[in-house]
Amino acid sequence: MNNIILKAKGISKSFPGKQIIKNGELTILKGDRIGLVGWNGEGKTTFFQMLLGQVEPDEGEIVYESDHPQIGYLPQAVVQSREGDLWSNEFARQLSRFGLQQEALESLDMEHASGGEKVKLALSAILQKNPELLLLDEPTNHLDAKGMQWLEEQLSSYAGAVLLISHDRYFLDQTVNEIVELNKGKLTVYTGTYSDYAAKKREERQHHQKAYDKQQKHIGEIQSQIDHLSRWAAKAHREQGKKGFAAEIKMKESDGVRKEKRSAGTIQNEAP
Ligand SMILES: Nc1ncnc2c1ncn2[C@@H]1O[C@H](COP(=O)(O)OP(=O)(O)O)[C@@H](O)[C@H]1O
Ligand SMILES: [Mg+2]
Repeated sequence: MNNIILKAKGISKSFPGKQIIKNGELTILKGDRIGLVGWNGEGKTTFFQMLLGQVEPDEGEIVYESDHPQIGYLPQAVVQSREGDLWSNEFARQLSRFGLQQEALESLDMEHASGGEKVKLALSAILQKNPELLLLDEPTNHLDAKGMQWLEEQLSSYAGAVLLISHDRYFLDQTVNEIVELNKGKLTVYTGTYSDYAAKKREERQHHQKAYDKQQKHIGEIQSQIDHLSRWAAKAHREQGKKGFAAEIKMKESDGVRKEKRSAGTIQNEAP
């Protein structure tokens, strides 16, 4: 049985002055639990939008195994926005597009809900649809410890695949077993928890630091050789200078002698 949900193949995307992703590859399998990490502004949200078909990649393609993939999407905008009316337009549009009906949304009391409650309500509604893939863009931003615990429980009882964006190490360790890093346009897959990923990154940094230290030491050695050689050269130059002066005097002296000898007519058969 084929357990592939989607394949992102050779995805590249740029905005003016910013390369978001270059030749990115990612396969999502049924039941996968993946955390997407990267600095703010690296392009994580844009990557989600490409998976959802809202943003076209410049190159490459996203291929879904099913003709009608069931995707639940929790956008970042709703948790970031402080504007009350955002709930009724952008977020509602997103939710209805990815499974939720407008009526279902209207039956939720969103008007008086806090950011955390909105996330909870929206997620409950999304999960009821039992999508095969859940895309969560920074879902923990407005959740307190209890809300976070609630979300962890929801995800552990949900059987579908999850791709989520988060900066919360503890939350990631509780929810995912694969990390995808987006860094300077490069998408890299690390199997294991966030802690495994962090350890690998530390190792990489130490490895680079060691290589850098070694290189610096080598540069230092070469520099001291250069210093030594230039001191030696300067000294040799000075000595050569003295010798040169002495030699010049000597030459002038012998010249004088020769002239004297010639004028005395003692040199015979000398070439002209
Ligand atoms: N429609 C757009 N047009 C131009 N630039 C955009 C657009 N959408 C996002 N960006 C820029 O692309 C970069 C990545 O944005 P985003 O995907 O939101 O990053 P992240 O979610 O990792 O913080 C940012 O520099 C952002 O300003
Ligand atoms: Mg984002």
